[in-house]
Amino acid sequence: MPENLPHKVANRTLKPLLTVLDRRIERLARRGARQTVDESRTVRDLKSEAEKLRKELKRVRADMDKMRDQSKGSDYAVDLLLGAHGRRSSRLMNEASLRDLADQVAKAAGVPKGNAYERVVQAYRTLFELELRGVGRLAGGPGNILGKLTTTPLLNPPNGEILEIGTLFGLFSGGMARQMSRIGLKYELTIIDPFASVQLQVTELKPDASGSPVTETVVRENLTLAGVDPERLRMFQGFSEDPTVQAKASDREYGVVVIDGDHSAEGVANDLVFAEKIVAPGGIVVLDDFGDKNWPGVQEATERHLAGPTRFDLVGVVATSAFLRARALGEPAA
Ligand SMILES: C[S@@+](CC[C@H](N)C(=O)[O-])C[C@H]1O[C@@H](n2cnc3c(N)ncnc32)[C@H](O)[C@@H]1O
Repeated sequence: MPENLPHKVANRTLKPLLTVLDRRIERLARRGARQTVDESRTVRDLKSEAEKLRKELKRVRADMDKMRDQSKGSDYAVDLLLGAHGRRSSRLMNEASLRDLADQVAKAAGVPKGNAYERVVQAYRTLFELELRGVGRLAGGPGNILGKLTTTPLLNPPNGEILEIGTLFGLFSGGMARQMSRIGLKYELTIIDPFASVQLQVTELKPDASGSPVTETVVRENLTLAGVDPERLRMFQGFSEDPTVQAKASDREYGVVVIDGDHSAEGVANDLVFAEKIVAPGGIVVLDDFGDKNWPGVQEATERHLAGPTRFDLVGVVATSAFLRARALGEPAA
């Protein structure tokens, strides 16, 4: 972690004091060296001055120790709030990695770097707030989550209809709804997930490290905690490849489709075919875990899909998410 604030403040506060003490010691030494006028008075003066300085030094040392302890305590407290204690992945980010992420966002969304940086910082606060209030967690590391939360609104989706395929605890959906509000779009949220108590796309099925089950009850609770209006929320329990589920979700054109369910090449290929039918012209498809070595099927299926007949164009990759934009039906590729 970089040098923290209390430490900096302690140093800044103590510096002038130490300078004054230094000067006084210097003056004392000079005076002693002269040893002129009244020898006995000089010695008495020197003794009393030295005693005063000793006391002052003791006090400064005690203050410094106190500030150091406070600084260590606040490091630990920040780590408890943002670090990896009690969860799968830390939310701590250093400035270099955040700025690097912002540069990727800027490139993908075609916006100035400074603008992207401000939006990433804003999304960082949103991530913190969502996890602090909610139960469970958002999936993935901070770079991956912030990349999706920031780039999607900067790509100006044509409407606030969001479909998330694979929601886990629902917290990311809550964040994406917030991001639509930020750009003045009225969000409407549709979620497809089996709500199978555990996360299904992993090979080993086990309870989540957060201690919360992946259930419809938990997701509804989280979306309430995230401030999502229940009237603007639909949840379809099931698998995204199921024609019955697809039929229910196909009643509208989505401005944003997040593909984050079955991460196998076959699963992602199915979701892309489904997305072709339901994304609004100009709409954004977010492919989570694109380029992540743990989920090679995502990139494999996406590249295969884009090489065939499609109305999607790849607009960019940020962290481990790819962003596609949909052309209108029949509109030729740029
Ligand atoms: C990686 S998690 C989603 C994380 C969530 N989007 C987030 O950002 O926090 C994947 C979720 O998709 C679900 N899932 C697996 N296969 C699915 C499928 N075929 N259709 C819909 N959801 C699926 C899993 O059970 C799990 O809840």
